[in-house]
Amino acid sequence: MKFVKTINEARIVLKGLKELKKSVGIVPTMGYLHEGHISLVKRSVDENDITVLTVFVNPKQFGKNEDFDCYPRDVERDMRMAEEAGVDVFFAPEADEMYPEGYSTYVNVEGVTEGLCGVSRPGHFRGVATVVCKLFNIVEPDRAYFGQKDAQQAVVVKRMVKDLNMNVEIRVCPIIREKDGLAMSSRNVRLNAEERKSASLIYKSLSEASKLVNSGEKSSHRIVEKVSGILNSDPLIKVDYVEAVDAETLKPVNVISGRVLLAVAVKIGNTRLIDNMILEG
Ligand code: PAF
Repeated sequence: MKFVKTINEARIVLKGLKELKKSVGIVPTMGYLHEGHISLVKRSVDENDITVLTVFVNPKQFGKNEDFDCYPRDVERDMRMAEEAGVDVFFAPEADEMYPEGYSTYVNVEGVTEGLCGVSRPGHFRGVATVVCKLFNIVEPDRAYFGQKDAQQAVVVKRMVKDLNMNVEIRVCPIIREKDGLAMSSRNVRLNAEERKSASLIYKSLSEASKLVNSGEKSSHRIVEKVSGILNSDPLIKVDYVEAVDAETLKPVNVISGRVLLAVAVKIGNTRLIDNMILEG
């Protein structure tokens, strides 16, 4: 595995590989890898000759009062896990490499960024789209791998790729969960034992919603009410939103029909967690 820190080095390494007609997959991450990231790496390794893992805690996607400073970081551990999973190029730039003095260009995806997390995290998706666009320009991958846990992010990236005619296929991979159902996230390590227990209610609430749909419930209002009720029953959980939206457009739906994304965001202590489930009406 090659470790590169600068854009120039990354370009040199990748140019050589592309001359050998190697296909390239990229897995963009903010590091502190877990099994969810590793599942993306494995899919990329299966589908491409070369897999590039990027580790960059992107300051542009964190709001002023968010957890940029305390976002978990451990590059050495990430390198070990990446190498074991089959990563060929590990790209971990510093912030001033990605955003040097005078940096002024941003990618603003409209519409799909406005609801869900876009409400409580203004500017977040502008930061995500900007960094993903830069990573695509640096690596020029054939395929890029994102997790379904960040469902809105995946929709935003797909929209950007389509609108800006980027030559990359976006692959969205299933959510990987802990034994009790909690979706894997780098932020989970910040939960104490009590908070961690409460966090398991998120998946339980989504599963209850799925059961309701399977027994014939079509009203998104009643589904949302059920999930909110379960989450609000735990005093440690502060619900940001529970919403049922069309899985492609992210527009709110009244009736569960077609592919509906049931999305949840909560705060437990100082940790913000998101999760979702696709309901098939
Ligand atoms: O999902 C993440 O970890 C980040 O939002 C991403 C896609 C790496 C962009 O910084």
